[in-house]
Amino acid sequence: MVDILMPTPILESVEEAIERDFTLHRLWQAPDREAYLRENGPKIRGIGTFSGCDAALMDACPNLEIISVFSVGYDNVDIAQAKTRGIRVTNTPSVLDDAVAEMGLALMLALARRIPQGDSYVRAGRWISEGPAPFTAELTGATVGILGLGRIGKEFACLAQALKMRVVYHGRTEQPFQPYAYYADLEEMARDVDWLVCIAPGGKATEGIISRAVMEALGPDGYLVNIGRGSSVDEPAMIDLLQSGALGGAALDVFADEPNVPEALFALDNVILAPHQASATHKTRWAMGDLVVRNLRAHFAGEPLITRVA
Ligand code: NAP
Ligand code: 8YV
Repeated sequence: MVDILMPTPILESVEEAIERDFTLHRLWQAPDREAYLRENGPKIRGIGTFSGCDAALMDACPNLEIISVFSVGYDNVDIAQAKTRGIRVTNTPSVLDDAVAEMGLALMLALARRIPQGDSYVRAGRWISEGPAPFTAELTGATVGILGLGRIGKEFACLAQALKMRVVYHGRTEQPFQPYAYYADLEEMARDVDWLVCIAPGGKATEGIISRAVMEALGPDGYLVNIGRGSSVDEPAMIDLLQSGALGGAALDVFADEPNVPEALFALDNVILAPHQASATHKTRWAMGDLVVRNLRAHFAGEPLITRVA
């Protein structure tokens, strides 16, 4: 049987499915990771990964043919190295669009309507002792600028429209058949919108794209939502602007150095934090896992890959 390596756990359903057709190596269970790789690395022909794959892991598995990634974003895989070595790479697009878009909207609602703060207010008895909580912002009628009108961005745009929001977008290229206004310049878009929602990929091309200047353009009445990648935001500048009130608020599912979240954010009342949870529903994670396994099966059966990125 073909040997498949899993560096960190994905899902029980994925482990069970892989074990039906392949020999599964659970690297996280090995007492000595390096020794395990020295002994078993040469046997490994496929990797199923939640946590990416760098050149060192490729070195340890010299006969690797395919990396099946448990996410749509593949910024944690060294694609250039995979290509150089002729290793194929797949991801899990489309099956998570609804869940991620839904989380984007949930974060916006939580931030605008101060849902966590209201919950704490009731639980602490402050409704009784202090009376009604303060008024909040509202999404209806506001303008949202989407950075990354891709598969998820388009689903998110539909949800925003259901709330009667005006939708505009920024990306590297205009999409003429989309019904939303296009901004070639991100800072200009930030100046014109109430909400900036990032659903763009991570990696070098988008690193720090949400710069201090972009967040200053969004301004004291503007809100940032990030469900893309933490690397896209200048985090120190964001914290600085949130602390001073030069940026109205932020709702963040992703961070530059996960799972480490800058502690300065914990003290801020104009921030909502989530632990990279946007696709983490039972239904969606199952579908992502299924795609990871189906790509592995397709490769080793000599069939076309279902969702190939390299
Ligand atoms: P997609 O269909 O490829 O869409 C990506 C969009 O980003 C495209 O519209 C693209 O437009 C734009 N984009 C790419 N590079 C850009 C750049 N350098 N500057 C500006 N815009 C750029 O991808 P998707 O399936 O919607 O997923 C998007 C990303 O969401 C993933 O890569 C991942 O990082 C993130 N994500 C996060 C979670 C989570 O749990 N929080 C879950 C799923 C996905 P142009 O090509 O016109 O620039
Ligand atoms: C993943 C994600 O769950 O798909 C993506 O790009 O960010 C999430 O859906 C996460 O990357 C863990 O693999």
